[in-house]
Amino acid sequence: MNDVSLVSADSVPLEVVWRAFVDGFRDYVVPVELSFDEFEQVIADEKISLAASVVAVRDGVEPCGAAMLAIRTAESWCGGLGVVPSVRRTGLGRRMMLAIIKEARTRGVTRMRLECIDGNHAAWSLYEGIGFRPARRLEIFRGAATPRPDAWKAASIWPLGDPGLVWNRFAAYHPVPPAWQTDLPVLRRHNPQRLLGWAIGNTERPRSYVLFRAFGDLVRIVDSGSSVPEQAADHLAMLVAALVESNPRCNLIAHNLPVENSLNAVLRDAGVPVVLAQTELELRF
Ligand SMILES: CC(C)(COP(=O)(O)OP(=O)(O)OC[C@H]1O[C@@H](n2cnc3c(N)ncnc32)[C@H](O)[C@@H]1OP(=O)(O)O)[C@@H](O)C(=O)NCCC(=O)NCCS
Repeated sequence: MNDVSLVSADSVPLEVVWRAFVDGFRDYVVPVELSFDEFEQVIADEKISLAASVVAVRDGVEPCGAAMLAIRTAESWCGGLGVVPSVRRTGLGRRMMLAIIKEARTRGVTRMRLECIDGNHAAWSLYEGIGFRPARRLEIFRGAATPRPDAWKAASIWPLGDPGLVWNRFAAYHPVPPAWQTDLPVLRRHNPQRLLGWAIGNTERPRSYVLFRAFGDLVRIVDSGSSVPEQAADHLAMLVAALVESNPRCNLIAHNLPVENSLNAVLRDAGVPVVLAQTELELRF
């Protein structure tokens, strides 16, 4: 019988963690093709704690699974749980999840969140069995936008060059908290010089904004917000129209937008397809 032990992810070389992670995500609903450099970047951006994450090792040598845990004060987030196909259904996934929950508890964390893509019944059943409960829906948009023509022309829209202007009052612009990967600590890791933006309202205190990065004809909306909830939808529609006009024929990408987020409805109205939907689940300790 195989002997599988769990070790802390900071006790082995990062290449071993990466291999365990990538191999654990074989046959995933969405292909995970993450180079070592990209993996290292994700660890840093998403604040994954290697000390609190675990790697499963078979017969003392062979990495066969990983569970990654990110921590921010009392909040935690599982950034991936994967078991290599040959040892699935032997209880390893549950074992690793229970191990990172224990790590989170011992660090004073009171909540863990994670996402489960629609159709991943194996993972859903594992999480539910442990006590995770659905919290909200997150959607990923990708495709062409057809905003209302000239929707923005009457408004005083101006290019937002300094994201600090809005990120310094982040909570005021985000009545709906963002998903882990698009929350302020991750956003702050962007090179501000690569970010472009449009805003509405006072140039010292914008009322609403979108921030994005352009990669050729792909435009990724990295953040958006509004401090005026009753006008958020109108403002964001105008800002998206301005963005599309300044990047004609672009495909828009926006990751993990909660359905309650005003930009979500705006992108739907503009015809941008939802390419992936998932549920955010949470476990309160
Ligand atoms: C999801 C995954 C981590 C489960 O790992 P695992 O080691 O096979 O799971 P376990 O053996 O610990 O099973 C624990 C529970 O999960 C559920 N489960 C696991 N695999 C299942 C399957 N194929 N079908 C239905 N339920 C399943 C069951 O409720 C199971 O409890 P039970 O054995 O008492 O019935 C594994 O399938 C995997 O790595 N998949 C690819 C990556 C992935 O989807 N990760 C999750 C991202 S959200």
